Amino acid sequence: MYNIKEKFGSTALITGASSGIGKAYAEALAAEGVNLIIVARRENILNEIAEDLRTRYDIQIQVIAQDLVAHDAADIIFDRANSKVDILVNNAGYGSYGRFDDLDITSETDMVDLNCRQVVSLTHRFLPAMKNNKRGAIICLSSVVGSMPTPYMATYSATKAFNRYFAESLSGELRSQGVSVQAVCPGDTLSDFRSSASFDKKMPISQRTPQDVVRSSLSTLGGRATVTDGIINKIATKQPRFIPTRWLIAINEIIWRPKGTG
Ligand SMILES: NC(=O)c1ccc[n+]([C@@H]2O[C@H](COP(=O)([O-])OP(=O)(O)OC[C@H]3O[C@@H](n4cnc5c(N)ncnc54)[C@H](OP(=O)(O)O)[C@@H]3O)[C@@H](O)[C@H]2O)c1
Repeated sequence: MYNIKEKFGSTALITGASSGIGKAYAEALAAEGVNLIIVARRENILNEIAEDLRTRYDIQIQVIAQDLVAHDAADIIFDRANSKVDILVNNAGYGSYGRFDDLDITSETDMVDLNCRQVVSLTHRFLPAMKNNKRGAIICLSSVVGSMPTPYMATYSATKAFNRYFAESLSGELRSQGVSVQAVCPGDTLSDFRSSASFDKKMPISQRTPQDVVRSSLSTLGGRATVTDGIINKIATKQPRFIPTRWLIAINEIIWRPKGTG
């Protein structure tokens, strides 16, 4: 449907492939005939996904169970990967919600390691082969909240701004070398994200599905450096262009304020 294999190559490595958006990338790329290396901590779930995709598609799948917070995770994954990687999907990530000083500091700093440091390490490891082959793709999961200051999600929104600027900057460096880089900005999307972030607030717009996000990403890969999934989310990410930052902070503080606080 997207000619991913022809344009970018035959093997994709997806982090966070055991659920939500990462699992949807695995499904969509498998349907394109792309061989997969799927990474997350829950090996049993990765094995079930691999088994299911192998029976439905004629592809090879390698499972790597790895905690990406570990400092040497990128080296371990690079060493264990059975083939070169043409498409790297930096998807694994989590968020947190609440007053910053109430949040667990280990979880906050682990989040920076997972959402940012590991993205840099994995990209640095797998990019040289893509450059040598003069083709490849790197996808980094940002978020609508990576486009603007978001009180009560301070660390998470900063990590997602990092993902966006990292991908956009790299896309400029690599455009002439055949490697496409894309920042993907989903809004509220149906997955385990809300429960792992303890985020129970109802947002004024309807949730998108992981499949919606992946469709937005893969249908535009190789084009614009940034893709926002869904029309309302697209409008939301444009707000910083029109609304002064101090107003945006004040408005978002009201929108995102946890229930029962004032
Ligand atoms: N859902 C949303 O509303 C939304 C919106 C904007 C952006 N995003 C971004 O989309 C990406 C995917 O999120 P999702 O919605 O699909 O959430 P999800 O369903 O919670 O999936 C998160 C994935 O990351 C993996 N992961 C978490 N911690 C890990 C660790 N320490 N080491 C290795 N893997 C780890 C999880 O696997 P294991 O638990 O098996 O390790 C899981 O596969 C994230 O980067 C998130 O920031 C999500």
